[in-house]
Amino acid sequence: MINTAPIGFIDSGVGGLTVVKEALKQLPNENIIFLGDNLRCPYGPRPKEQVIEFTWQMTYFLLKQNIKMLVIACNTATAAALTQIKEQLDIPVVGVILPGTRAAVKNTKSQRIGIIGTQGTIQSGSYEQAILSKVPTAQPVSLACPRFVPIVESNQANSSVAKKIVAQTLQPMTKKNIDTLILGCTHYPLLRPIIQNVMGKEVVLIDSGVETVGEVSMLLDYFDIANSPENTTPTRQFYTTGSTQSFNQIAKNWLNIPDIQAKHIQL
Ligand code: DGL
Repeated sequence: MINTAPIGFIDSGVGGLTVVKEALKQLPNENIIFLGDNLRCPYGPRPKEQVIEFTWQMTYFLLKQNIKMLVIACNTATAAALTQIKEQLDIPVVGVILPGTRAAVKNTKSQRIGIIGTQGTIQSGSYEQAILSKVPTAQPVSLACPRFVPIVESNQANSSVAKKIVAQTLQPMTKKNIDTLILGCTHYPLLRPIIQNVMGKEVVLIDSGVETVGEVSMLLDYFDIANSPENTTPTRQFYTTGSTQSFNQIAKNWLNIPDIQAKHIQL
């Protein structure tokens, strides 16, 4: 049955746009609503209970817009809140950790998989647990990179400061002999060229957001709730709790949509 309701995406900030970008590519007929909680970003250093509370607030906002599926396009929120949100909603809820894990496990030859993410994600141990539950002999190595999200949120992903901070932070990971690195934060694909440069081209970077959209696509088919292929004027709505000017700037460049007009909301 054709379902024209939008798919909702949430993140603490602009990171979730890396998932939206992929959704625009893989699912161009779908109506999309994105909410970034830029005002309270970063979530990474916050206590788990607070991340759960904020994630519920974003979820309620999107439920009021009658979404047909919720994508938690934030690893920190996925690690903290996916299980309970999934349990309590009657629409499909997708997080970013399992799709990234599956792609990493599929790619690795040496079973040495690196994970980078926020403090919240790394401390939760969610990626390690997910990897080891699939391949018990794997050797996951993780590293929190708390300085990356502020670089992206301040639109400095292409600056020389970004290069310096990424090189310094990833130094320990370059010595771990990994063949696969999970970008376990949806902000990190905006730093991808710099991260690749530091890690070397033989290390395969896994963008968990890209993998997640594959899962969204599969679930649309499984539940038979995809929009019509004849929907040639799909809607794209963007909301932020922060500055619309700064959001529009980053979103415009990243998504390549010239006329993004995000709306400001309070949660
Ligand atoms: N983009 C988010 C993630 O994937 C988190 C950024 C943050 O708020 O710390 O984890």
